[in-house]
Amino acid sequence: MSNILLITSSPRGTESLSARFAGDFARRLRQQRPGATLTVRDLYAQPPAHIDEAYIVGRGLPADTRTPAQAAAVAHAEALIAELHAADTVVIGSGMINFGPPTQLRAWFDYVAWPGVTFRYVEGKIEGLLGGKKTYLVTASGGVFSNGPRAAVDFQSNYLKYLLGLIGLTDIEHMRVEGLAYGPDAAKAAIDNAQTAVQALLAKAA
Ligand SMILES: Cc1cc2nc3c(=O)[nH]c(=O)nc-3n(C[C@H](O)[C@H](O)[C@H](O)COP(=O)(O)O)c2cc1C
Repeated sequence: MSNILLITSSPRGTESLSARFAGDFARRLRQQRPGATLTVRDLYAQPPAHIDEAYIVGRGLPADTRTPAQAAAVAHAEALIAELHAADTVVIGSGMINFGPPTQLRAWFDYVAWPGVTFRYVEGKIEGLLGGKKTYLVTASGGVFSNGPRAAVDFQSNYLKYLLGLIGLTDIEHMRVEGLAYGPDAAKAAIDNAQTAVQALLAKAA
């Protein structure tokens, strides 16, 4: 049985195209996999708090010595990591804000990137500990970053792929909804292309 985890994060809420296409893809993937489950982690509706001293100190302490604030912060991280462990397929939607992912998604990474728990260093090299999962990443952006002059500043995709790889999610399919700020024709083409990409990846995943 397949367990799909859908993570959306755009602060544009119902207007978000990354959430729309990631959600559409995840729901259709569930439909084509008999018995599959879909867990939704909406980081816009329920944003993780920025990490703080309670979390950083608390996660380094034995569980029975944590203060209530430390225990709550660590439990939140453990719950987010448990969602990842339970999933064989992770679908992530991220809409570019100031050349990077939304801070809601960055805050999520600050909880799930946990040394010794989701990654470790072996002889100086990083080893991700959440391997064996398929990841589908949907990024949306006003500009075009897949090629051309802005490719060098594609901090959103590069950051996300690096952080996903850090925790062991290295098998990534990337769908872009890009060039949305270049006028109505370009926006329509971006949406059409994304629909085609969703269709193609659903066929590939079948
Ligand atoms: C506050 C804000 C900042 C943005 N910054 C950028 C940016 O730096 N580069 C860019 O190409 N698009 C930028 N955009 C455009 C968004 O990336 C675009 O609207 C995209 O569709 C957002 O993803 P979403 O549809 O999933 O919400 C920004 C939009 C907002 C609202």
